[in-house]
Amino acid sequence: MSSMDITLEVWRQDGPNTPGRFETIEAKGISEHASFLEMLDVVNDRLLAEGKRPISFDHDCREGICGMCGVMINGEAHGPVRGTTTCQLHMREFSMRGVKHIVIEPWRAAAFPVVQDLVVDRSAFDRVIEAGGYISVKTGQAPDAHAMLVKKNDADRAFQAATCIGCGACVASCPNGSAALFVGAKITHLGLLPQGQPERDARVQSMVAQMDAEGFGACTSHQECEATCPKGIPISVIARMNADFRRALA
Ligand code: SF4
Ligand code: FES
Repeated sequence: MSSMDITLEVWRQDGPNTPGRFETIEAKGISEHASFLEMLDVVNDRLLAEGKRPISFDHDCREGICGMCGVMINGEAHGPVRGTTTCQLHMREFSMRGVKHIVIEPWRAAAFPVVQDLVVDRSAFDRVIEAGGYISVKTGQAPDAHAMLVKKNDADRAFQAATCIGCGACVASCPNGSAALFVGAKITHLGLLPQGQPERDARVQSMVAQMDAEGFGACTSHQECEATCPKGIPISVIARMNADFRRALA
C-alpha cells in the first residue's frame, strides 16, 4: 500500500467568539487509499497521543448522504473532485495531482458562523426548511402508482432536486454567500409534484423571506454553486424559484 507525506494547514479556532489561525501539521505515512476524513482521523489520533486538542470537523454517514462533512480544501468546496463530498474524497486524488500541501478551512459565510475549527453552524438551513420546505396536507395511504400521474420529465427534475443533501457548499463557494441553489432545490422538488401544489405560493414566499432573514446574500449568477455542488443540482432551480416567487406575488 502506498503512503504519502503531506503538510496540512488547518484552520484552528477554539470557539465562536475567539480569533482563528492556521496551524501547520505534518501528516506523514498517510495511506493513499484513506479517505480525506480517515486522514483527519489519523492526524487526530496523533494529536491526542501528544496531549493536544484534536481538529474538530463534522461528519456522520461518510457516504455522501447526510451533508454534514463539507470543508474548503485548497480553496475548493469539498476539494478538487467534482460530484464528490468531502467524505467521499480519497487521498490518492492528491497524490495523483502531485499535491503535498493541503489548506483546510471551514465554510466561510456570514450565515454559517464557525463553532470550532472546521465545524460551522448550519442551522440557518434548518430554519429555512421549517419556514416551508415540507408538505402539510394529509396524504393518507400510499396511492397506487398509476392513480396520480406525474410527467416523466417533472418526476426526473423533482428527483434530481431532491438529491440536495443540504451540505452548504453552494453557500460557501458563492462570493455573495447566497443560499439560492439550496432553497431553489427544495422549492423545485416540492413544486413539481402534485402534492406540493396546495402550499406552493405560501412556501416560496416564506422560504425566500427566511433565507433573506438569515443573512444569505443575493444570487448574481456567478454559478460557482453549480460547479461545486456534490449532487449536481443545476442553477435552473434558481430560475424556477424566482419564477415561483413572481407567480406567488401576482
Ligand atoms: S444545492 Fe448542492 S451544494 Fe447546495 S446544499 Fe444542496 S447539495 Fe449542497
Ligand atoms: S459525512 Fe455524510 S455526506 Fe459526508
